[in-house]
Amino acid sequence: MDLTRRNFMIGTAGLTLAPQRASASRRTGDPFTLGVASGAPTADGIVLWTRLAPRPLADGGHGGMPDRNVDVEWQLAEDERFTRVVRSGTVAARSSWAHSVHVEPTGLQPGREYFYRFRAGGHLSPTGRTRTAPAPGTAPALAFGAVSCSNYEQGYFTAYRRLAEQHPDLILHLGDYIYEYAPGGYKNSDGKIVRSHTAHRCQTLAEYRLRHAQYKTDPDLRALHALAPWIAVNDDHEIENNWAGVHPGTSGRPNFAERKRAGYRAYYEHMPLRRSALPHGSSMQLYRRLAWGDLATFHVLDTRQFRDDQPCDDGVRDDCTQRLATGRVLVGSTQRKWLAAGLRSSRARWNLLVQQIFMAQHDYHLGPGKEVLLDTWDGYTAERDRVLGDLVASGARNPVVLTGDIHCHYASDLLVDFDDPDSRRVGVELVTTSVTSDGDGYDAPAGRAIELAENPHIAYADQRRGFIAGRLTPTELRADFHTLPYVTKRNAPSTVTASFTVADGAHRLARSSAPAARAPQAAAAAGAPRKP
Ligand SMILES: [Fe+2]
Repeated sequence: MDLTRRNFMIGTAGLTLAPQRASASRRTGDPFTLGVASGAPTADGIVLWTRLAPRPLADGGHGGMPDRNVDVEWQLAEDERFTRVVRSGTVAARSSWAHSVHVEPTGLQPGREYFYRFRAGGHLSPTGRTRTAPAPGTAPALAFGAVSCSNYEQGYFTAYRRLAEQHPDLILHLGDYIYEYAPGGYKNSDGKIVRSHTAHRCQTLAEYRLRHAQYKTDPDLRALHALAPWIAVNDDHEIENNWAGVHPGTSGRPNFAERKRAGYRAYYEHMPLRRSALPHGSSMQLYRRLAWGDLATFHVLDTRQFRDDQPCDDGVRDDCTQRLATGRVLVGSTQRKWLAAGLRSSRARWNLLVQQIFMAQHDYHLGPGKEVLLDTWDGYTAERDRVLGDLVASGARNPVVLTGDIHCHYASDLLVDFDDPDSRRVGVELVTTSVTSDGDGYDAPAGRAIELAENPHIAYADQRRGFIAGRLTPTELRADFHTLPYVTKRNAPSTVTASFTVADGAHRLARSSAPAARAPQAAAAAGAPRKP
């Protein structure tokens, strides 16, 4: 274990910066309550983020800030004590952007650790740790984490803390970073809620800002942001449940374009995204490509903004033939061509498709017939065939699809024809469960055995909460599926309940060693997801 990083975790408590912080004139007015973040690493640059909000839940979504721009100083250093500052400057936190700050220092050294902090109004922010991508032509090992689906009401964000304790170099957030529901608007099957959302279902910019600010009041979320750079992309709940392109989701409310504009703007304001993702009205450029030396290329996909509406009124159905229509799109032709071109030109050892929704065929019906979740790629089968075909035709090395959304861990092979278990392997799909969404979860081995028999390309399923800790080297991908026994109480431990490897060139999963001891298993049947 890297002692520097371990010490850093302790340092974020403020110890290293205490002398300067003590000199600040007003302790109660600390504007850095939402923490710091970094993201979108390249070999020579990074995005540094903060937002000034001394009272994060103050009415109006302005975080208790005055209606004027405020200068914020920033520093980037090679060491945690800031004795070797390599970049610094002053930037305006603009009132019109909720006093959020996005700084994009360039000309940095590849593949190295940096530390950053901000200062405003006599207050010093916590220190964040970040990292640039390695140089082209190099392929050092990468430790990464994958997370999705953190509903604030349904549990504590312990999984974020446990992932931070794994000391990853890079975090992939696959969407549902916030949930838009009104307080109590989406409950676990047992009705349990551990803390309450801000007032109202999110519709206005103020409401989305308040919701994002509330989520960042969670110290475990702030810790994961401060520990490593993120590559983040939204799914549906950053705006509303199961929206699709220009079509609203299940809110039943008018003026969807307004919610999209507000939700996108608040997402940008609260995430370490590049200026290239600055929203324009109700659209936002989120599909993008990032290189991690020659080891990996991350092809980040946007599976919401360009899709046709879910077929057959959405849901889990066994009678929907509309889902098979050849003209239906999910990523859309422009993004699909961009992806295909990027795959063809990729020289990376591993090609990771960072996206949201379940890509492999997934039959929830136990027995003859297919019952599928229409919000996933199963609702857009022709588009799935096209994308998997593009993957094969491109010759891109070692495709790996990373997925969130579904609130269960899954590991699956991706096949050219999912109805023929012997058909060509395209690559693998790793699905990370939720951080909290759907509450404590359960382990149901009997139902799972049937589910896996019904879907022989799926090697693993688990309905508890957690995250994936991955490790990439030129010869192997390793994925450790961590689960937590509960999230409705604080401080759950995490356990590796399954590990898989993919060897360079294998295009298929191999189970690695015996899983660790399991938590006590609750009796519960597998079945169609109740994800709203
Ligand atoms: Fe979710």
